[in-house]
Amino acid sequence: MFELQNIRTQIEKCTLCQIHSSKNKTVPGEGNLTPEIMIIGEAPGKNEDLQGKPFVGAAGKILDQLLSSIKLSRDQVFITNMIKCRPPNNRDPLDQEIDNCANFLNEQIHFLKPKMIVTLGRYSFSKFLPDRLISHDRGKLFKWKNVFIYPVYHPAAALRNSSIKIKLEEDFLGIIKSLKKIKSNPNTKQKNKYKENEQLSSL
Ligand code: URA
Repeated sequence: MFELQNIRTQIEKCTLCQIHSSKNKTVPGEGNLTPEIMIIGEAPGKNEDLQGKPFVGAAGKILDQLLSSIKLSRDQVFITNMIKCRPPNNRDPLDQEIDNCANFLNEQIHFLKPKMIVTLGRYSFSKFLPDRLISHDRGKLFKWKNVFIYPVYHPAAALRNSSIKIKLEEDFLGIIKSLKKIKSNPNTKQKNKYKENEQLSSL
């Protein structure tokens, strides 16, 4: 798709943040170009930076397991991050870096038109619902513009904490259920049926 290739090229050329000069490769994201589900993580780590692909390190292995537990493969979804260059030493992304990269992510969402966005961790959840808490709202479905947001914990957190892994496994099971509901419920097809940021508890 021309537009997505164009976004990749713009990402490669971008020099807005200092981290453009310390990165090896930009990590624009990859996967299905007409996805029902888009997955948004935080930022590339060391392995992603070397390969130019999202979630190819330890957190990526967990993400692969979680996807396969609901019978999804990477080529059925589109996976990307809030920011497309690696912050040095795996530090958290800065607000300014997230702002600088926001246009790329917004354009990806615009052209890919997913039905549902699964946010991994608090950074990507707070792009859509800044006043909500992931610990409280994980595994729930929210409306944001014309897409539904489904927040879960970041898979890297499961590397350090086995109870998070269990919560992630539970929440991933909800992805397929939620997608089915989005597709079958006539109300969710009416763009204006739900208020912005409303939680779809009655789905
Ligand atoms: N963590 C992320 O948030 N994104 C990646 O691509 C890898 C690890």
